[in-house]
Amino acid sequence: MTIIEKIQRLKKEKNAVILAHYYVRPEVQEIADYIGDSFFLSKAAVGLKAQTIVFCGVSFMGESAKILNPEKTVLMPDLAADCPMAHMADAQTVKKLRDSYEDLAVVCYINSTAELKRCSDVCVTSANAVKIVKALPNKNIYFIPDKNLAHFAADQIPEKNFIFNEGYCPVHERMQLAEIKRAKEEHPQAEVLTHPECPDTVRNMSDYIGSTSGIIAYAAKSAGQEFIICTENGVRYELEKQNPGKHFYFTETEPVCQGMKLITLEKIAHVLETGENEVHVSEELRMESIKPLQNMLKLSE
Ligand code: 13P
Ligand code: SF4
Repeated sequence: MTIIEKIQRLKKEKNAVILAHYYVRPEVQEIADYIGDSFFLSKAAVGLKAQTIVFCGVSFMGESAKILNPEKTVLMPDLAADCPMAHMADAQTVKKLRDSYEDLAVVCYINSTAELKRCSDVCVTSANAVKIVKALPNKNIYFIPDKNLAHFAADQIPEKNFIFNEGYCPVHERMQLAEIKRAKEEHPQAEVLTHPECPDTVRNMSDYIGSTSGIIAYAAKSAGQEFIICTENGVRYELEKQNPGKHFYFTETEPVCQGMKLITLEKIAHVLETGENEVHVSEELRMESIKPLQNMLKLSE
């Protein structure tokens, strides 16, 4: 029996469903029941019929799925798959700022721990941050943890006063501008498609800025045939699958998210078989951290 056949058998036996982010390995994306960006996956996790969710992504994703679905069993193929940015803000600063600004809204990128979500008003993803912040009645916005997504949103909402936090995604922050320029010289017709977690120097030379799903949708719709992709290299699988005739280039130093790449078929089979690596969130933390997630789902309707 192949590893894929084993996973299919275990999925049926355990009444399980597999969710995967676009950054995981191609062979994992291939066997997933649902694949998408963070926003799609947080919506997809709600109302699933299966009793068990195997979340092929980093820990904040599995944690959000558990917060939204307390009655389900959420399994992570590797508990070490984490997003460093999810920890790059602190609750004490949130409290201090709430004391200094009367009408402060704390906007929390979904790439954050439940501890950060619990002290926030609303969550956002890269797919809906601009829409949601625009819809808030508050003028003062403390945006955690990502400074780059915060600046991307702030540039489009000049009427709001943004307070920035110093968090960043190490994968996108280290994108080399010189390498993108070199790729553009080699492929002058290529459009540059960029994730908003990239620094402004990279965003400023882009033709399109959006979430992983946004980048994939843009490439499919565009009449262009060549694209320079400024995000994690896992998106290549879906880009090439949807667009067989088009060409996708990454920088020489391909951006790789170490956490996402920890997920393997063997680990998926193992957690399905053993029930190991279940996500647990205390009821007190869950009740507090679900509010900003529910606010996001409501405001993005
Ligand atoms: P998306 O929401 O665009 O999928 O991004 C998630 C992420 O972790 C980007 O680094
Ligand atoms: Fe976190 Fe960056 Fe990995 Fe996305 S690519 S999960 S933001 S470390």
